[in-house]
Amino acid sequence: MNHFLEIDDLTPTELRSVLALAQRAELPPVLAGRGAALVFEKPSARTRNATEMAVVQLGGHPITIRNDEIGLDVRESVEDVTRTLGCFHAVLAARVFSHRTLERMTTVSNVPVVNLLSDVAHPMQALADLLTIQQEFGDLQGRSLAWIGDTNNVCRSLTIGASMLGMHVRVAPPPQYEFTDEELDRLALAGATPQTYARPEDAVAGADVVSTDTWVSMGQENEAGERHSDFEGYSVDDRLMGTAAPHAIFLHCLPAHRGEEVTDAVLDGAQSRVWRQAENRMHTARALLWFLLATSEQKEAVR
Ligand code: CP
Ligand code: NVA
Repeated sequence: MNHFLEIDDLTPTELRSVLALAQRAELPPVLAGRGAALVFEKPSARTRNATEMAVVQLGGHPITIRNDEIGLDVRESVEDVTRTLGCFHAVLAARVFSHRTLERMTTVSNVPVVNLLSDVAHPMQALADLLTIQQEFGDLQGRSLAWIGDTNNVCRSLTIGASMLGMHVRVAPPPQYEFTDEELDRLALAGATPQTYARPEDAVAGADVVSTDTWVSMGQENEAGERHSDFEGYSVDDRLMGTAAPHAIFLHCLPAHRGEEVTDAVLDGAQSRVWRQAENRMHTARALLWFLLATSEQKEAVR
């Protein structure tokens, strides 16, 4: 069974194939007459809409299910919910608080499980980010990506994915938000060796891509006060963008907190690609689902 919990569940060759498939407006309807369960323990605008539309474009029927309807581990165990949804659907995609919930799903699921964001990873976002960078620069080998702020779920998946395509990744988090040794070991397993910088301007110097994310991820709301003070000085503004390469682009997975991790001027400025990046969530979701569900004969036919 093919599951997709982190971006390196694909090989680098498969990742390149998925990104190439994402450029095709149409793919054979592998979900015709079949369902896709989309489970959400947390809110979503882009992920829900992008994934629902991707399922429709593949001929399938998406059913979005909020956790207050199914009560994971409250009304019924994660395993029994997984077994139940597998009776009706060809794929189970879920946005969860704990990555462990996705791992538990994979132990009993008879259909592919897809991570729509966990505390650990956001690989569907990384696919869209990488497609956006590719559309700008073509081959990513040797290009550089600077990540400013929290080394969170989005940062981890993007670091792995960008490294798989030959990019150099530099991160500039506040000291207590750096990758842990355990996380660095996990990244190294995927071939990712990000360089950590103390000052955002050193990470951004000459970079091709500058990216950031919220200072307070979903589930960290009780740390908001402390985080807002710890991340002071880690905003992406015009001054910081001015130290990147002249052709640099700005990315943000969104939702953005204007005036915190990014200024209006950068988010709405000429270097920003955030709306293309958001749209790419749908194109990459379509490609990834197709890749997981197509038979080898179908894959051969679209080569
Ligand atoms: N980027 C992203 O995952 O957005 P949503 O939380 O709106 O789905
Ligand atoms: N890091 C953020 C991403 C939101 C799409 C979070 O986990 O809330």
